[in-house]
Amino acid sequence: MEVLARHFLQIENADEVPVVIHEYLREKPFYILGGGSNTLFTKDFDGFIVHPAFTGIEVMEQMEDAVVLKVAAGEPWDNLIQYCIKRQYYGIENLTAIPGLVGSAPVQNIGAYGVEVKDTVLKVEGYVISTGEHFTLSNAECKFAYRNSIFKQELKHDCIITYVWFQLSRIKHFTLSYQGLAKALEERELPLSLHNVSDCVRKIRDAKLPDPAIVGNGGSFFKNPVIPDEQYRELLVKFPDLVAYDAPDWQKKLSAGQLIEKAGWKGKQVGNAGTWKNQALVLVNYGGATPEEVLHVAETIIKDVNNLFGITLEMEINRI
Ligand code: EPU
Repeated sequence: MEVLARHFLQIENADEVPVVIHEYLREKPFYILGGGSNTLFTKDFDGFIVHPAFTGIEVMEQMEDAVVLKVAAGEPWDNLIQYCIKRQYYGIENLTAIPGLVGSAPVQNIGAYGVEVKDTVLKVEGYVISTGEHFTLSNAECKFAYRNSIFKQELKHDCIITYVWFQLSRIKHFTLSYQGLAKALEERELPLSLHNVSDCVRKIRDAKLPDPAIVGNGGSFFKNPVIPDEQYRELLVKFPDLVAYDAPDWQKKLSAGQLIEKAGWKGKQVGNAGTWKNQALVLVNYGGATPEEVLHVAETIIKDVNNLFGITLEMEINRI
C-alpha cells in the first residue's frame, strides 16, 4: 500500500546542506532518507523527507599499499563496489549488492559475509541538524558496533551525512571467513580475484534474498540477537543445532533467521505480508501489504520467538 509524505526535498549538492537545514529543518518532523531500503513507513508522513542525491567518488590519496576515497552520500553503494573492483581496491567486495546509498552505510554499519563497513571507513563528514555545525568524525568517534553507530544513537535524526571517507587496500587480500562464500568459490573452481569474490557474493544474495525492486523487503528485518554464553548453553540442551557466532564479552550471536524458522515462520504468509521462503529473517510485502499487515507479522514473530526461546528480537529496520 502506498504511503505519502507531505514534502520531498532532494539535495543535489553537498554545499546546499547547511541552507536546507536552516530553511527547512528547524521545524519537525523531517526524515533523512537514503535509498529507502531499510525503512518501513507505517503511515503517511506529515513533514519533510530529505534525500541526499549528490554523487561522486574522489581519490584523495594514493599510497603504494592503500588508497583513500572520499565518496558523496548520494552515491549508490553498489556503484562504489564496481568502482573498486575495476581499480583493484580491496576491502568492500563482500558487501556487493547491498541496496542503498553510501551515506547510509555507516549509519547501521552495513555488514555481510564476514565484513562490516567499519573495517574500511576512515572518517565521516556531515552536519548536525540541531546546531547546523559541520562535523568530521573519525572511525573511533563513529562508535561502530554490530548494526549500530553514533548515527543511530546520539546523532539519531539529528545529522545529515555528506561524505564518507574510505581507506581501501591495494594489496590483494580477501575475507573468506563466511563458509558459504569460501565454499561457493571452491565449488565453482574460480581463482581468487575481486571480480570472482564479488560475483559469488552477488549469486549467494540472489539465491537467499529477494530483490527489493521486485518483491518489497528491507533485507534483514531483525538484528541477530546477542545473548550471554550461559543462556546459549541452556538453549543448546533443547535445540542442539542452534547456530551461534562469538560476540564481544563472551557472548554469543544467534541467527534470528534460524529462530524464526524454528518458530514455524519460514515462507509463511499472513494476508499480503510474510517471510521469505529462502531466508526467514526477511519480511516481505507479497503485494499491496498495508503497514499494519507487515507490523502484525513482525509482532507475531517477536511473540512466537520469545515464547519458544525466551529471546526478544529487536527490529533492524527503521520504522517511521
Ligand atoms: N538460517 C536458518 N533459517 C533461515 C535463515 C538463516 O536456519 O531462514 C541459518 C542459516 O542456515 C545460517 C545462519 O542462520 O546457518 C545465518 O544465516 P545467513 O548466513 O543467511 O545470515 P544471517 O545471519 O541471517 C546476516 C545479516 C545479513 C547478511 C548475512 C550474511 C543481520 C541482521 N543480517 O544474516 O544482512 O547479508 O548475515 O553475512 O546481521 C541485512 O542486514 O539486511 C542483511 C541482509
